Amino acid sequence: MTHFPVGFLWGSATAGHQIEGNNVNSDWWSREQQVPGMELSGDACDSYHRYREDISLLAEAGLTSYRFSLEWARIEPVRGHFSRAELAHYRRMIEFCFERGVTPVVTLQHFTTPQWFAAAGGWLASDASELFQRFVAEATSILDGVEWVVTMNEPNMQAAIMTAMRRMEQAGGAQWQSPTVEGEQGTKEKKQSHGEFLTYADPEIGKMFVQIHHAAREIIRARTSAKVGWTIAAGALTAAPGGEEKLQEIRWGKEDVYWEGSRGDDFTGVQAYSSQEVDAGGLVPHPIRPDNTLVGTAYRPDALEMAVRHAWKMTGGVPILVTENGIATADDIQRIRYTGEALRGLAGAMADGVDVRGYLHWSLLDNFEWGHWEPTFGLVEVDRATFIRTPKPSLGWLGEVARNNGLA
Ligand code: BGC
Repeated sequence: MTHFPVGFLWGSATAGHQIEGNNVNSDWWSREQQVPGMELSGDACDSYHRYREDISLLAEAGLTSYRFSLEWARIEPVRGHFSRAELAHYRRMIEFCFERGVTPVVTLQHFTTPQWFAAAGGWLASDASELFQRFVAEATSILDGVEWVVTMNEPNMQAAIMTAMRRMEQAGGAQWQSPTVEGEQGTKEKKQSHGEFLTYADPEIGKMFVQIHHAAREIIRARTSAKVGWTIAAGALTAAPGGEEKLQEIRWGKEDVYWEGSRGDDFTGVQAYSSQEVDAGGLVPHPIRPDNTLVGTAYRPDALEMAVRHAWKMTGGVPILVTENGIATADDIQRIRYTGEALRGLAGAMADGVDVRGYLHWSLLDNFEWGHWEPTFGLVEVDRATFIRTPKPSLGWLGEVARNNGLA
């Protein structure tokens, strides 16, 4: 039996835009209407109204933590106008977690921003930080009793999207691709263009995000007693022969600048799904294999252990919360196998002294995967017409791991 420390958090993670539905004031909502070929989030899983059912499912299975995000676009739909009713909505979610004995992990910003913010230049505008800090300050008004707060989700993925968008514009508007879904499986050209789409994250944007994160961290520390951190997309990158130098270069812009920016945080959120090689030419497309996931990545449960070891080293020993790990698959048995292997690897890193405080599986529900509905990451299936939730065997399995605080 592999055991985890007493008090280890066992939970699942979600993000507002991917599950709530009708997030009509966000930049993603308008992008969905404009970009040909992108599927719409629409009603999503209607979790905005059904969060009690979702949190109850998680709690009844035996999980003890729920990570969810606030939608800035709901709270501040118009610049400078904050909705008390929307803040109260998220406060009710937090209180419902407390009622069910679930520890909330609250993300203040998960990929989406209000349309007005995006239209004014987004994160690259000179007053972006100031505008975000104003929202963060408002958000702290509902965080009483919350122990874990994430300022931003995967700023490195957000930076990669921004860099890629800029390049696409310069190149005269190439085809849009989801940030998290690989180029259509199969053709090497598409895979390579996707590789490029996500490879180059401008380190200067990274430094800007680090400053924004630090300013938000100060506000949250001054106004709440929560532990503060952010979450980072970990590539679990390795060097193919001859790729050592390129690996350093790519990894710096893509993630290391962010791990370094996490020094001084109360925790750092590690999010790992797959691993990938870098050769002298850059990121090597995932080899085409029958067990590749529905987002086109390789089946690599060992990515989690690699990622936490790297995060531990780069942050200089900041405690880790695994804020996302999971697999896009239609085969729930494969999900259980993947998660079991990932957890064994995690336990291996912990046995070597890496301080990990919890494991939050991505995701609770089959949800909107940033432009696509096909890749299913959920522990729970959702009928998108009736919104009926059907737990998959993996939910019961992970709940059992949580109850035992370990796995056989
Ligand atoms: C994001 C999630 C996404 C998941 C799976 C992470 O990059 O934080 O929003 O759904 O990976 O692709």
